[in-house]
Formats: sequence, C-alpha cells, structure tokens
Amino acid sequence: MTSQEGHDKNLKTEIPLLRGVDAKRTGCVPPYYRAGQKEILHRSHKALESERKYIVAGNTFGKLFRITTWGESHGKAIGVIIDGCPPRVPLTEKAIQEDLDRRRPGGGPTSTARKEKDQVKILSGTLNGLTTGTPIAMMVENRDVKSSAYNELKDLYRPGHADFTYQKKYGIRDWRGGGRASARETVGRVAAGAVARKVLSVESISVVAYTLELGGVGVSSIDLAEVNNNPFRVPDRSAVKEMARRIAEVKKAGDSIGGVVEVIAHGVAPGLGEPVFDKLDAELAKALMSIGAVKGVEIGAGFEASRSLGSQNNDPISTNGFLSNNAGGILGGISNGEPIVVRAAVKPIPSIEIEQQTITVDNKPTHISVKGRHDVSAIPRINAVCEAMVCLTLVDFYLRQKVMAS
Ligand SMILES: Cc1cc2nc3c(=O)[nH]c(=O)nc-3n(C[C@H](O)[C@H](O)[C@H](O)COP(=O)(O)O)c2cc1C
Repeated sequence: MTSQEGHDKNLKTEIPLLRGVDAKRTGCVPPYYRAGQKEILHRSHKALESERKYIVAGNTFGKLFRITTWGESHGKAIGVIIDGCPPRVPLTEKAIQEDLDRRRPGGGPTSTARKEKDQVKILSGTLNGLTTGTPIAMMVENRDVKSSAYNELKDLYRPGHADFTYQKKYGIRDWRGGGRASARETVGRVAAGAVARKVLSVESISVVAYTLELGGVGVSSIDLAEVNNNPFRVPDRSAVKEMARRIAEVKKAGDSIGGVVEVIAHGVAPGLGEPVFDKLDAELAKALMSIGAVKGVEIGAGFEASRSLGSQNNDPISTNGFLSNNAGGILGGISNGEPIVVRAAVKPIPSIEIEQQTITVDNKPTHISVKGRHDVSAIPRINAVCEAMVCLTLVDFYLRQKVMAS
C-alpha cells in the first residue's frame, strides 16, 4: 500500500483535534466538539475531501500591483510574477539582491545551516534598467537542497507545521523541505517587495523593520541607525548580548523561539486605504498574517489601546498635525499622514529537536524529533519579509489612490 492510499484510509478515521483547548472558554464550540472530553473531529467534511478536483488558489496578493509567488522549498527554483508595476521605474537585480540578502539563510546566529546564495534573475519586464509596464518575472534557483534529510518526515506530521493541514486539504503534500509552506516561499515576496519599495521611493515613502523582542528579551530604546549594525536587527545595541545568550541557550536545548517585529513606514501621505473592507489596517494585518509563523498583528498602540482610557489613547490634533501616534498612522482605515506603525508576533520555529508526540499519515501514534537544518528563530530573517509585505500593501493602495485621483 502506498502512503497515499494509507492516508486516504486515514481520512475515514477520527482525528484528535485541539487537545487541551477549552472550547467553552474560547467560545469556539463547533458542532464536532464534544464537551467535557478530548474533542474529536468527526470526518463530517469527508465529502469535501473527496471533492478535491477544484481549487480556489490563494497565491496572489494585491489589486493593482499584483504579485503571484510560485515554487517550493526543494523544487528547481522559486520566484514571483508581478503584474501592474508602473513603467519606467529604475530596476536592477542588484537593488533586489540587497533585500534578498537580508532574508537569506546560512548566515546569522538564528539561521538554518542551509546555504543559499539566493541570486535573483529578472526574466522579463525590464529594458535597460527600467520597468516596461509588462509582467516582471523573477526567480532564484534552489541549490543547497537535501531532500533526503526529510525522508523520515515524509510520513509524519510535524507539530506546529503545516504538514497535517496541507495533507488534509490537498490529499498530497510536498514533504521535501516543507514544500510551499516553507520560508523559501518568502523569496518571491521579498523580491517583489524590493520592486514595490522602488515605486514607493519616488514618493519618498520608506519602510523599515526591526526586532523589538527575541525569545522574551526586549529592547529598551529605539535607534534606527543601529538596526543594520547587529545580527538580530535590533534598534538597541544593549539588547544584543542578552539575545545572543538566549539563542545559544535555546539552540543547545534543541528548542526554538519567537519574537516581535515592528515595521515603520515614513512619508505616507493621508488618504491611503479603501473603507470599508479594504481598510489600510485590515490589509496590513492580512499581509503580515499571510507570512508563515506570524500569529498576531498590532497597529499603533494595538492591544495596549484596550487597556487605555479614551483620553490617553486619542491622538490630539493641532494645526501642525497629530500630537501623538497611538493610531499607528491609520484612522478609519485611511492613512492620516503620521508614520504607519505595525507589529507582528512571530511564533517559535515548529521544527525542533526536542521529542514531541505526533501521528503518522496512517494515524499511528509516534514521536518526532526534527534534526538537521532549521532556523532556531524566524527572527531576524522574517524582518525582510515583513518589510516586503508592508511595501507591497502600501504600493497597491498608492496606485489605487492615483486611479481615484485621476
Ligand atoms: C523567515 C522564516 C523562517 C522559517 N524557518 C523555519 C524553519 O527553519 N523550520 C520550520 O519548521 N519552520 C520555519 N518557519 C516557519 C514555518 O514556515 C511556519 O511555521 C509554517 O509554514 C506553518 O505556518 P504557521 O506557523 O503560519 O501556521 C519559518 C518562517 C519564516 C517566515
């Protein structure tokens, strides 16, 4: 019997779901939860799984500046197609490479040992260093691929990763390096983000991401000039030593950690954002939440606003502008001219050496310990991805505003 057949057989069985989650406490009580005992998902959507002939794909982002990322972790290459980039924007591979280098694995203290040069090639859409207004295709070859390292994971689900859900949804999963759920997918986002950044720079809009927290170690001040001077991309030099110590400790234990990334966009004029469903904050949240491992997004004061009084949280307005920026530069879903401030909460890397309980694709209980080449934290590599997603969101709204104004 092939593992695929084994898997399909498995679909007819009961799969444990959300063990330990107090359905009553969360208010989340779908009909297939049994109160008072371990919740079991009955295969009530068996019909859905047998109807895998249709697909409503979600690989495209943006309305006017549209990107489609393609490729898997251990495929031949990975990349992106941009449609809707204005013509005559200066664009070279070198400019894109600078952003890709900040995302690249194989470098820093938190990074996987996978060594990829991530050398970008622009395949179409430019002439003599200028965009032509036609689709821009970019790709990066996957070179340091060791799929055999994933052989043991082929028939297991890694807790915290997308193995279980990809298998359930598609009935097939590229287990080599995590396939499309791998951080390699973000190569295309960062390459496209670099192009978006070029368009935004014409309007003097700049976007920068930095690490606010790593494994519970936070910064106590913000000096953007520091961000490029240390391996964690923290704006506070005094936090670096403690972060390095924390990483070493976690790595030694075979575990992983998360953190918080902040992204600031300066120079955004009032008016970007399309109420009601395409509010700027709503789209930024989507953009960041679409990155693997991002589990929360805050705008401006974020969750802290819920603990403030109105008199503390409101940003008073003077004839010279707003006197504070708890709103994070967005009111009513529209930019207000203040810096856009957005934070992403990043979970710990799922693939860890510490042994954990899981199941096989045949629904047999087993244990898993993931050895080999994995990041200890998505931070700081994810910073470049967060920056890219904010650039892509802003450029799309900028073009939408231009259409409206014309
Ligand atoms: C920059 C970056 C690097 C990552 N590196 C790894 C890694 O080495 N190993 C791993 O298991 N997950 C890694 N992840 C996280 C997974 O991609 C992610 O947890 C997985 O796709 C499941 O999605 P979810 O966490 O959003 O539910 C990384 C994510 C990012 C953004």
